[in-house]
Amino acid sequence: MTHDVKSTAKLSLDGKEFDLPVYSPSVGPDVVDISKLYAQADVFTYDPGFTSTAACDSAITFIDGAKGELLYRGYPIDQLAEKSHFLEVCYLLLYGELPDAAKLTDFVQRVTRHTMLHDQMGHFFRGFRRDAHPMAIVCGVVGALSSFYHDSTDINDPEQREIASIRLIAKIPTITAWAYKYSIGQPFVYPQNDLDYASNFLNMCFAVPAEPYVVDPILSRAMDRIFTLHADHEQNASTSTVRLAGSSGANPFACIAAGVACLWGPAHGGANEAALSMLREIGTVDRIPEYIARAKDKSDPFRLMGFGHRVYKNFDPRAKVMKESADEVLALLGVENNPTLQVAKELERIALNDPYFIEKKLYPNVDFYSGIILDAMGFPTSMFTPIFALARTVGWIAQWKEMISDPTQKIGRPRQLYTGETFRDYVDVENR
Ligand code: SDX
Repeated sequence: MTHDVKSTAKLSLDGKEFDLPVYSPSVGPDVVDISKLYAQADVFTYDPGFTSTAACDSAITFIDGAKGELLYRGYPIDQLAEKSHFLEVCYLLLYGELPDAAKLTDFVQRVTRHTMLHDQMGHFFRGFRRDAHPMAIVCGVVGALSSFYHDSTDINDPEQREIASIRLIAKIPTITAWAYKYSIGQPFVYPQNDLDYASNFLNMCFAVPAEPYVVDPILSRAMDRIFTLHADHEQNASTSTVRLAGSSGANPFACIAAGVACLWGPAHGGANEAALSMLREIGTVDRIPEYIARAKDKSDPFRLMGFGHRVYKNFDPRAKVMKESADEVLALLGVENNPTLQVAKELERIALNDPYFIEKKLYPNVDFYSGIILDAMGFPTSMFTPIFALARTVGWIAQWKEMISDPTQKIGRPRQLYTGETFRDYVDVENR
């Protein structure tokens, strides 16, 4: 992608000066282009964890960490969570604009008609142990999609990229729900085309053949909002994984499976499961000070799960919406006195008044309250991260499509600061 050069940064190194072009984004920090630095100065830049590195151009999502702002294609997340619905947000993330009524209807119909899996894929689930973590199943089955849908694996064909995108968005709820059903020994429930996306997922998770199941509209709305809040988030770890996998030309199903694998980690998407387990371990409000002390103790690896964020240094706008939703859903379910919610609210209040958390700018993130809602809806903690993966699939796909369609994209290949042994000859075992 070409950029207008706003100014030039000068790097002086070993008595030489190097000009580095500076580009301006539509919003956010300027960037210094160092892509030619190694060729010019025979040095690498050094940024483990990419705390100061823009790895790509993107027009999809923008986060202002200082303001606590999250925009999907320019629209603020709180407005989308309140006024839109997940499939409309999927359209926005994929195509860049909110659809008119006809385009939205067509998109919803296209997704709806791809929700079933090839019937033979059911065998993959049965190959897992019943006590397999649902993320292991989701990761395996998403990757296995590439063994069935050969007509949508050619990444150079825009039509195939589009079909693969629709298939992934449509089938990820079925795969996630079936991973849950398999883990509890219940029969798979097929998607129903007369249900909306969130209701369909809840039906596939909680319906049983033995009796009718009616989706509670309150839960369906809350589920849909949780999907919207998790849909995309700039170049987070799992999205960067998808981009790096895609940069090699791997098929879209393999790339999304790589994203699922990365999201599983407790520092990333696994935090919602870890946060609820932590809140349950704390148990009562009087035990909060003990855990706050542990979180501050450098010799203790314990961290407050669901707290802190690489980018948000004010508050995570998703956590704000999630907290409101938790109050609403639990009240409607008649469990507003849920002890875990009380511990969460008191933990947040104490932490936000504690100098350690204030100084380190640690606030609740998206994972702090989501688990409380999912728990109240009847999901086990093991299903929290699969639900995050379900929602993030559209973000991964939108970012993958953006990268693949950029004619200047090339395989990602970072370098390193080598700290190992320098050249040495082999020594035969008898001489060691
Ligand atoms: C997600 O990137 C994304 O956008 C991710 C995500 C998305 O939508 O894709 O938003 C989803 O992953 C949210 C984050 C979920 N993870 C957690 O809730 C796990 C707990 N949080 C931490 O592990 C941590 O805050 C991270 C991983 C989220 C952020 O880590 P950073 O940016 O690398 O920050 P850091 O580890 O350098 O922390 C800065 C300081 C450190 O202290 P010092 O070394 O400066 O003394 O703050 C401390 C940390 O020890 N700290 C915490 C803490 N998080 C950071 N101390 C206690 N509890 C915590 N939760």
